[in-house]
Amino acid sequence: MNIVHVSASRSYEVKIGQGLLGNIGEEAAKLTAGQTLVVSDENVAPLYLAQVVENLRKAGLTVSSASVPAGEASKCPEYYVNLLNILAAKRLSRSDAVIALGGGVVGDLAGFAAATYLRGIPVVQIPTTLLAMVDSSVGGKTAIDLPAGKNLVGAFHQPSLVLCDPDVLSTLPEDIFRDGCAEVIKTAVLFDRDLFDHLRENGMNFDREAVIARCVAHKRDVVCRDEFDTGERQLLNLGHTVGHAVEKCSNFAVSHGKAVAVGTAIMARAFSEDADEIITVLRAFGLPTETEFSPEELAEAALADKKRSGDTLTLVIPERIGKATLKKIPVGDLPAVIKAGF
Ligand code: GLY
Repeated sequence: MNIVHVSASRSYEVKIGQGLLGNIGEEAAKLTAGQTLVVSDENVAPLYLAQVVENLRKAGLTVSSASVPAGEASKCPEYYVNLLNILAAKRLSRSDAVIALGGGVVGDLAGFAAATYLRGIPVVQIPTTLLAMVDSSVGGKTAIDLPAGKNLVGAFHQPSLVLCDPDVLSTLPEDIFRDGCAEVIKTAVLFDRDLFDHLRENGMNFDREAVIARCVAHKRDVVCRDEFDTGERQLLNLGHTVGHAVEKCSNFAVSHGKAVAVGTAIMARAFSEDADEIITVLRAFGLPTETEFSPEELAEAALADKKRSGDTLTLVIPERIGKATLKKIPVGDLPAVIKAGF
């Protein structure tokens, strides 16, 4: 087992190891002697919810559960309020805990409910996708979407524990696993030449536990230095400005991971001395590096992002593998940047 210690506004451990799902009762009992609400989705619940609930009960905890439809649409005010109502109906207190069992959607939704119910109760993240293991479950970002845009309402609420069990990835559809690989490659491009070489040499057969632990450690380092995302943490958005634009232009037919792969490829072609290597590895993982949308369409979609403020935007520049920087550019320069990466 690998353990990554995070020291942010709350200190906690990210435990990564095969079979850890079977330890959830023992682990949760260290955090609460009372009640837990396990939140899952309709894909994950049939696979793992019963096991998790039984394990928690065996550890002496009182357990209830809630499940939302799988997919981004569940990160909405309606399901958020439903969860708050369940927490209130079950009378969970600040010494109880929410357990988020699922991918990024469940983690964000359950995390935001935990962040705001009673002004904040503990949340344990049990990510079940690669993307959630290496990125969204760690670092305390929680949010729901509004019709005006994704993640427009949220809170920083660090989990009390993150349990990553790579065994659960065996039930993940290959395409969703590939999406997570885009975030893993992104992490390597940003911070870690050795990790990049391991991915290039092993392809999809990379050492899952070691790679997840390495990505989590990089994310931990960034989050500990910039928990509230005012500077360095923005590096984690490599490929995301263009990626979000690809998602939007495709009406979300292109998944987040694949869109980030396209965004990373465009930024690499525009700026990185290692662009060829980055593109080769993205392709070896079956990820797209081109898009059917024009630079103008992508720039327009990117600039319509409701979270953008003022006349500048911050780009993540992948200078070479293992080294990236932030650069503010006038918004009017974005089409030229995207064009340079085509
Ligand atoms: N997913 C990017 C971040 O946590 O900042």
